[in-house]
Amino acid sequence: MTQNTDQDRVVIFDTTLRDGEQSPGATMTHDEKLEIAQMLDEMGVDIIEAGFPIASEGDFAAVEEIARRSENAVICGLSRANFKDIDRCWEAVKHARRPRIHTFIGTSPLHRAIPNLDQDQMAERIHETVTHARNLCDNVQWSPMDATRTEHDYLCRVVEIAIKAGATTINIPDTVGYTAPRESADLISMLIEKVPGADEVVFATHCHNDLGMATANALAAVDAGARQIECTINGLGERAGNTALEEVVMALKVRNDIMPYQTGIDTTKLIGISRRVATVSGFPVQFNKAIVGKNAFAHESGIHQDGMLKNAETFEIMRPSDIGLKETNLVMGKHSGRAALRAKMAELGYELADNQLNDVFVRFKALADRKKEVYDDDLIALMRDSEANTDSDHIQVKSLRVVCGTEGPQTADLVLIIDGQEHQVSAEGDGPVDATFNAVKALYPHNARLQLYQVHAVTEGTDAQATVSVRMEEDGRIATGQAADTDTVVSSAKAYVNALNRLIIRRQKSDPDADVKTVTYKDAG
Ligand code: KIV
Ligand code: ZN
Repeated sequence: MTQNTDQDRVVIFDTTLRDGEQSPGATMTHDEKLEIAQMLDEMGVDIIEAGFPIASEGDFAAVEEIARRSENAVICGLSRANFKDIDRCWEAVKHARRPRIHTFIGTSPLHRAIPNLDQDQMAERIHETVTHARNLCDNVQWSPMDATRTEHDYLCRVVEIAIKAGATTINIPDTVGYTAPRESADLISMLIEKVPGADEVVFATHCHNDLGMATANALAAVDAGARQIECTINGLGERAGNTALEEVVMALKVRNDIMPYQTGIDTTKLIGISRRVATVSGFPVQFNKAIVGKNAFAHESGIHQDGMLKNAETFEIMRPSDIGLKETNLVMGKHSGRAALRAKMAELGYELADNQLNDVFVRFKALADRKKEVYDDDLIALMRDSEANTDSDHIQVKSLRVVCGTEGPQTADLVLIIDGQEHQVSAEGDGPVDATFNAVKALYPHNARLQLYQVHAVTEGTDAQATVSVRMEEDGRIATGQAADTDTVVSSAKAYVNALNRLIIRRQKSDPDADVKTVTYKDAG
């Protein structure tokens, strides 16, 4: 990537693994977190917020391992404003070549009321905790949570205290996504102008998207002097999410004429990491999402297509290749061989080892038998399915037969393999999916509650694969399952079972003594 060294550098701080993963249902496994961290590092992210070490043993282990493996990026951990949190955070990040402690406290009137501290008591707490963090690590970030709803005088006072105590980065969070671009810029300008020592630290912007303004607010803050943007891949995050990394990075690249700032991001890696985060988090990217949505470069209307054929710039402000999309959508068919599949997969960002290639090839052939043309999106869906649903899963779908008709109820005959044993049942329901889910529940009774059921057609046509996402909750634990199949009901069954398998793993992790067989399997067939 060409760097214009005359331009100011904006540091990209990715918090997909912390603020993003905090989003209900977006929980990632340890290995998935390591993989995403490696992708972020390879893409050129400057700082990776790898987690919240005190939150759980799992969070600690992931941050520690990411820190040990980090190559270039600064590895940061989050901690509340107390010594125990900060010490635990340091224990996890200290293994990184370049560690950072991030400590925060809510400074707005509403947030000050929670620990019941008055302004002076909170100021004292900030002084003590930032000093403590700085005694451990020479790279300390401090955040006044809900800064955009904090009284300006008080905000200036506590920012000054944090700087004097040794913070090297001051992050200004718009925790509830309340600010607007002009206000976001004015707040940063005010702090830079009024706070003594402001020129010795980096100001960061951390925006949430509740009013759909997270990207605009972050860019406005940069215009006013912020030099660190906190963001997540696909804008993942609680509620409406965080500023999307791909949006701010591409905005700075495409409109460099009016926003003359550089980032270190290799933008050709954006689509690969977007897809991977969508898979592991279980949060599919909306079709019309800026930059990485399926339709972001699709030109459907006649006028658009005509213009595009004459000159791509007529309707395109960036090239698909800028974000790593290949221009061609080479169609594969049932006569395509292993080598072609491997090459195609590599092009799509999946490097397959030999044994993985064998498995994917079998699945690809089965798909090509049912579907005349296999497109890139089909292969991506197939890969996600084969990563999500494996032969080592506790519960697997062996076969499903559904009888439908205009007169209900519908019936599902289902065979599941549970711990290597086949179990069969026939269940009724209000529609084929309901009947299928009832059949799974009859064979594997559980108390998990279905929170979300979502179907997407991968490509056009009636033979298109359907990707299904299912989110389930059990005793506060949430898991998302995914699957793809040309048969929507089969895909639904597999996604539901995938979510159950993930819940079982989570149950075992939080209670290692728990027997996965906490249920009595029923055979009704
Ligand atoms: O949104 C927020 O305020 C945060 C802080 C912990 C930085 O995520
Ligand atoms: Zn946040």
